[in-house]
Amino acid sequence: MKIDGVPYRSVWVDPEDGWSVRIIDQTRLPWAVEILRLTEEKQVAHAIKSMQVRGAPLIGAVAAYGLALALRRDASDAALEGVAAMLGATRPTAINLRWALARMLDALRPVPEARRADAAYAAAAAIAEDDVETCRAIGQHGLPLIEAIAARKTGKPVNILTHCNTGWIATVDFGTALSVIYQAHDAGIPLHVWVDETRPRNQGSALTAWELGKHGVPHTVVADNAGGHLMQHGEVDICLVGTDRVTRQGDVANKIGTYLKALAAHDNNVPFWVALPHSTLDMSVRDGVREIPIEERDAREVLEVTGQSWDGRVQTVRTAAPGSPGLNPAFDVTPARLVTGLITERGRCDATEAGLLGLYPEFLANVAAE
Ligand code: MRU
Repeated sequence: MKIDGVPYRSVWVDPEDGWSVRIIDQTRLPWAVEILRLTEEKQVAHAIKSMQVRGAPLIGAVAAYGLALALRRDASDAALEGVAAMLGATRPTAINLRWALARMLDALRPVPEARRADAAYAAAAAIAEDDVETCRAIGQHGLPLIEAIAARKTGKPVNILTHCNTGWIATVDFGTALSVIYQAHDAGIPLHVWVDETRPRNQGSALTAWELGKHGVPHTVVADNAGGHLMQHGEVDICLVGTDRVTRQGDVANKIGTYLKALAAHDNNVPFWVALPHSTLDMSVRDGVREIPIEERDAREVLEVTGQSWDGRVQTVRTAAPGSPGLNPAFDVTPARLVTGLITERGRCDATEAGLLGLYPEFLANVAAE
């Protein structure tokens, strides 16, 4: 996608030196577009933990490049396993991180040490390219949902509510739920996006609003608590969100607050769709509420807020009463029964085991073996 007319991806290998890894520092958005150069795996781990890069598919792709950086210095079996474990421990909820590292390990274990670093760059590039094509296809498969609503609304904008940031900066390119929105907008469908602020880190007001603004998509930022009210008053035609992990029975882990939106959507007969790439599927778990590990982040993210003051300085200030403690679970799980359907790169399906197996029959063998 483009920033002010210049095409970007969210991660790339520096064309000047051919090996260092470039990312956009998402902790500086929307105030500044700063490109970081990562040269070793510790920087990559820090980038993922501190959320300089974030979004389930992107952290997988960046971790893959982190492994490639490490293997340039030490391509031994011990380094391969140790660095993969270190990178895999940076964030617990999004399965894409583990998926990407497992794919890297499968590709690299059989490769002789002398050729491992080159093979790692090739495997990381394959993961990144796969994500780009996957996200493009997700947009195509979601488009008919928006077209159908637009046909009923005859010229009035389709109102879409989204949570967190599921755009091109959350993936390698295009995004997941936002890929659907971009493709609908580019197809000329009039639409308007309600952007949940997404406290505590404000991925909605800082990142999604920035992305949509750069692409010319009409949108309005709302407080996280406004969605239910908007749905009661017919102001939301469809909820479109992404996910960090989908279980075999269709439960959906996503940014904290997603569950409350799904409950409100259910109560108001608003369709609630979830967009995901194959790398977000975790067919090894069934009950998302019980089995998906939920990241707990620093309580300061809840007790404080970061923004730009009128003199242009980016500042963090405390908003909670002095001395009060905070709690910061970063994700929640929406049970499958509240999900209207899933949008994948292979098409749409029910949020059920049968629905998922219909699109991903390669997992039938695992199910049969249990
Ligand atoms: O904590 P974050 O910002 O990494 O959380 C991201 C989300 O929850 C997204 O909705 C999710 O990764 C799916 S879209 C790529």
